[in-house]
Formats: sequence, structure tokens, C-alpha cells
Amino acid sequence: MNERETLKINQEGHLEIGGADCVELAKSFGTPLYVFDEAQIRRMMRSYRDTLQREYKGNGLVLYASKAFSCKAMYAIANQEGIGADVVSGGELYTAMQVNFPAERIYFHGNNKLPSEIELALDYRVGCIVVDSLTEAERIEGEAEKRGIVQRVMLRINPGVEAHTHAFVQTATPDSKFGFSVFDGSAEEMVSALLKMRHLRLVGYHSHIGSQIFEKASFVLAVEKVLDFAASMRLKYGFAPSELNMGGGFGIWYTDEDRRISADGYGEYLSALIQAVRTQCREKELPLPRLLIEPGRSIVGEAGVTLYTVGAVKEIKGLRKYVAIDGGMFDNPRYCLYGSKYTALLANRAAEKPTELVSLAGKCCESGDLIGVNMELPEAHIGDIVAVLSTGAYNYSMASNYNRNLIPPAVLVREGKAEYIIRPQRYEDLVRFDALPDSLK
Ligand SMILES: Cc1ncc(COP(=O)(O)O)c(C=O)c1O
Repeated sequence: MNERETLKINQEGHLEIGGADCVELAKSFGTPLYVFDEAQIRRMMRSYRDTLQREYKGNGLVLYASKAFSCKAMYAIANQEGIGADVVSGGELYTAMQVNFPAERIYFHGNNKLPSEIELALDYRVGCIVVDSLTEAERIEGEAEKRGIVQRVMLRINPGVEAHTHAFVQTATPDSKFGFSVFDGSAEEMVSALLKMRHLRLVGYHSHIGSQIFEKASFVLAVEKVLDFAASMRLKYGFAPSELNMGGGFGIWYTDEDRRISADGYGEYLSALIQAVRTQCREKELPLPRLLIEPGRSIVGEAGVTLYTVGAVKEIKGLRKYVAIDGGMFDNPRYCLYGSKYTALLANRAAEKPTELVSLAGKCCESGDLIGVNMELPEAHIGDIVAVLSTGAYNYSMASNYNRNLIPPAVLVREGKAEYIIRPQRYEDLVRFDALPDSLK
């Protein structure tokens, strides 16, 4: 069913993920449930890592963009695969450090890092901080001085290439809260400022042009623009980057409107980047930098499915059919946020062809609480197990306790055997941080 063998339909007609029967998983662990296929996560990490090794003499590092799905198990897997991690908050950093993730392989991002987060990053001695404001740079300088260290930093720049699914645009005046524009002089001012700071060592540039991108040409153009900037900074300041971080953003399959890319196919995206870096550095007479990429969605997105139980079916005659499940925007807010599209099937009748278009409704008190509209499904009945595919990225990590619903647990499947990587919440957990002032007792 899925060319990477993450998903299969077994002899009972049930959906399997990583060799585990989804109906059995729903019985054992309950629903809603996030399920992850460990083999697929590792395949993706290895594909990027090995391409870098083969085609760039290993002169670089793959950083798992952990915002896609952050939990101890993910950092442990990334560490075992010998890759690094990108973190964007003290919380992600703390989680990584709980499994002794090598701090030198951590890159810390964020457009407004809190003073306490900067201190934590320096205390842990993270490998690199990606600077996104002058105030932040000055703060890192001060904290590094206090500790008597020199902190490696990169500068996040905005090369004026914006890309989204199936399209990219070049903009001269990019409007973004991230990075410094190469067009209005602000990136240059930052280079000049960073080079003067005695406790910072500027190692290079970072750029991330968007997410769910399928066009290799957009990454190639971004490399060209970043290295144009690097070349002009070398002329002016004599600084050539020893590292180049081109971010993440490789697209994944959600529905048949998207391309299906094999693990090797993702390696080809990295090959295109490597090729562009080699060509541009040759043309601009820049030394070849250490190359970093930060894939998140493509590492973990298709490795995950979410299982739900159908609790109600409601037809508004001539208009729409709602299939209501026991999850919703509290475990997957992406339809509400971006109108994202998903593919769903009935895990207990997985071989059945879809016969109708339905809206998959969550259980929150919000009309807009949907996982999707016009989704193809066979006729669903109460008790059916719905599997929503490609939910590994930006689902759990964006989940909330809205309506005081419990965030579902997650299991990791390895050779057909599932174990918790996120344990179930209980109602006690919901009130754990509530406080009752004396006047209300
Ligand atoms: C700086 C940065 N790096 C990497 C990523 C990961 O992108 P993706 O999950 O699309 O690969 C993001 C996502 O927003 C990002 O902002």
C-alpha cells in the first residue's frame, strides 16, 4: 500500500503499521492513539545521513527538526543514528538533554529566545545558536563572557526565496518574523556586529525557506542567494562561512495531490542541494562549507498514523455527512490552522474502497473542529476504527488540552511490537497545575 512498507493491509483486511495490526493496537492501547513506525523514522534519518556521507564526504550534519515531534524517544533515535537535532525552545532542549543527547550536535533556533533559554543553552554548551536578533546576540555575548567561553553562532538570513507546496516565489522584500533580509542591509549589519563580539564565533548562515516543498529548484535558488550574500560579505568583511545550514521543508505525502517520495528520493533532494553548494562555491571561489539540513516533517510525518473510534454519524440530508471521532483539533489542529488535507481509511475494513465523501469531525465544542472535509471513506459505522495517515509531524507537537480533553498517548512500533513513547494523560494531570486561591476554597 505504501511503497516504504510502513503501511500494509493484512489478511484480516486490517491496516498494519510497521507490522502491527491497527485494530489490535486500538484494542490494547485505546483510542485516540498516535502510532509511529520506528523503522520508517530510521530509514529517513539514514537516507539523509548516508547521502551526506557519500556525496559530501560526510562534511556536514543532518539535524532532526524536533519541533515536528519532540519527545525523549525521538531524541534517543536521532542520537543512535548519529544525527543532530534542532530545537526551538528551552522545553525541546531540556527534553533532548534528558536522554543525554550530545549537546554539541544541538542547534538552537527561535526568533525570540528568552533570556532563561539562552542561559540554559549556554549551560548545556549547545553546539550552535542560530541568532535571530541583535538583542539576542548581545545577550549570548554577555552570558558567554560570564562563563568564559566562546559560543558558536550562525546568522539566520532571509534570502528572499519563499516556497510552499508545488510553488516558490522570489521576493525582494520578504515579510517574515524570522531572520534578517539580505536585501535591506539588515543581514549585513548583523554580520558586522557579530564579527565584533569577542565571545561569539560566527560560523556561517542559516536559511529555511518554507515547508512542504516539492520543488528542488527552490532549494537550489536559496543556496544561490545565500552564497551570493556570503560572497559579498567575504569581499566586505573577509568572512567566509565555514558552515551553511539550509533548513528543512521537504514535502511529504498527505493525499494523492502530493508526490510520494521514497527514502532514497529524499536523498536526491539533498544531492541537489549538495550539487548547488559545490557549483556556487566554485563559481564564487568560496571554500566548501560544512553543510547542514534540518528535516522534520519528512523524517517523522509519514511514519505516523492516528487511530480514532467512530462515535457518531450524522447526515445533513443533501448537504454533508459528519463522521465524529473521539479525537479532533486537540490532537491534530492542522486542518483548523491551515486547512491541511489528510487521507483516512477504516483500519478494521482497510481493503474496502471508499464510497462516500464525509467530514471527519472532532469532539470539541467548535464547529470548525474537523480533521478534514470531503474525505473519502467507506460507509462508517459506530465503533469503526478510523486511521488518519501521515500524522507523525506537527500533530502531537501541536496538541492541546482544549476543552480539557486528554492529549492522546503515542506508541512506537518496532517489528510489530508497540510500546508507549508518550504515556496516557489522566484527568488528575489536567488539574495538576490548577491553583485555588484561599478566597475560593
Ligand atoms: C528553522 C526551521 N528548520 C527546520 C524546520 C523543519 O521543517 P520541515 O518540518 O518542513 O522539514 C522548520 C519548520 O518550520 C524551521 O522553521
